[in-house]
Amino acid sequence: MTGVGNGGPARARRDGEGRGRPAHPLARLSAEFDGVHDVWRSASGLLCVAGPEAARAVLGNRHALVAETADFYRTRHGVFGPRAAQIEIGRASRALMNRHLDARQPRLPGLLAAHLTPESVWPDAGNLLVLAHLRDVLLHRDAPPALHAVLEEIVTRAVLAGARQCHSAVSRLLFRRRAHGALHTEIAARRRAGERSGRGGGPSAGRGDGQCSDADTLPRDLLDVVLDGSDPTADPAELAEVYLSFLFATVGAIGFALGWAVLLLGTHPDCRTTQANWVVREALRLWPVAWLFARSPSRTQDLGGMRVTPDDRLAVCTYLVHRHPGHWPRPDEFVPQRWADAVPDGAYLPFGHGPHTCAGATVTMRLLEDLVGLITRDWHLSVTPDGGGPQVGPALAPPRFTAALSRRANGPGGR
Ligand code: HEM
Repeated sequence: MTGVGNGGPARARRDGEGRGRPAHPLARLSAEFDGVHDVWRSASGLLCVAGPEAARAVLGNRHALVAETADFYRTRHGVFGPRAAQIEIGRASRALMNRHLDARQPRLPGLLAAHLTPESVWPDAGNLLVLAHLRDVLLHRDAPPALHAVLEEIVTRAVLAGARQCHSAVSRLLFRRRAHGALHTEIAARRRAGERSGRGGGPSAGRGDGQCSDADTLPRDLLDVVLDGSDPTADPAELAEVYLSFLFATVGAIGFALGWAVLLLGTHPDCRTTQANWVVREALRLWPVAWLFARSPSRTQDLGGMRVTPDDRLAVCTYLVHRHPGHWPRPDEFVPQRWADAVPDGAYLPFGHGPHTCAGATVTMRLLEDLVGLITRDWHLSVTPDGGGPQVGPALAPPRFTAALSRRANGPGGR
């Protein structure tokens, strides 16, 4: 069993160390954290935060500590806004996802069987399963087939773990232009169609006039959510990036979180009868997909006993917060049963903290718990890790592994 499968710390797998190659940033930060100093200056110069109290102060932007608000709406063109539009888009995305999950719940067992049996290679299998399940939420069925094809290409070239490294910088640039071009064309087409139909876009699009049925006014997909929640004159380039944030959050983050849960379940056969919600929470504790948050201090201040100035760069590491020895017993072990009792809530931040906490947190947990619950109910799971470590990028993806599923004798379709 690997250290990763055990839930063991990433510092146990300092890839390349001692052979002249730098360890990945997660291993470096883990090795530097002494379990006592919650804020410290890393060898790289970053001011690192591993203490729950300091992490919440930064992420919640207590007393306007930092210049930024949150990452989700940050684009190459600045921060998409205003805040009212961000909040409305977050609310509408959650509502759309919930409607979709309600409608598609009965199909989930069949989708699992089709995607994961008899064997599947992870973490890609998790991302592709989520893509299949949320396909209509991402892009409604009647959207142009060419755009559906671009969506799939974005997933295979930019969302799957390690996918970006498979292409040269030039190839990535050319693809990026093509993908954005396709999204801009669709945004323009929907705006023109909206003008004709009265849907029009903008923060109150399609609501409140009493003239239209729900089917006319409800967003068909996340691109409608972004268009409906934004100003009709908003730059299509900015809207395309916000839409892509949703693609990464759904297919990317949910897929990786599912991968961690399946890997941990597969390497802990004793936990397979444990409640799905405990398994999911514990997987997100040990391996928070959103593991590192970069922020810039707005003024000179004290944070966790350290002097911080606007010239510093802060890095809040929720991976270390979630394994803080002062807050979690047996911090590096996979112990789903710990969730039966009260846990230190303030030291658990898989979806961020404060006003910018993830708008999709509850719907994400719902989907993950449904998927893990079905896997443990209907299937015997066996996992073969390929020996690699976590795939550390902006998101924390599981190592590659193979999962074999065989039908339980007492499960649906079993004898
Ligand atoms: C495992 C899955 C997910 C994880 C780990 C995750 C994590 C996060 C985190 C940590 C933040 C705060 C970012 C920051 O403070 O810089 C955030 C924000 C956000 N997330 Fe998620 N997310 C997930 C899935 C989703 C889904 C499925 C949706 C929507 C369908 C979503 C929508 C959002 C939005 C709209 C924000 C911005 C909130 C605001 O600033 O008001 N996320 N997410």
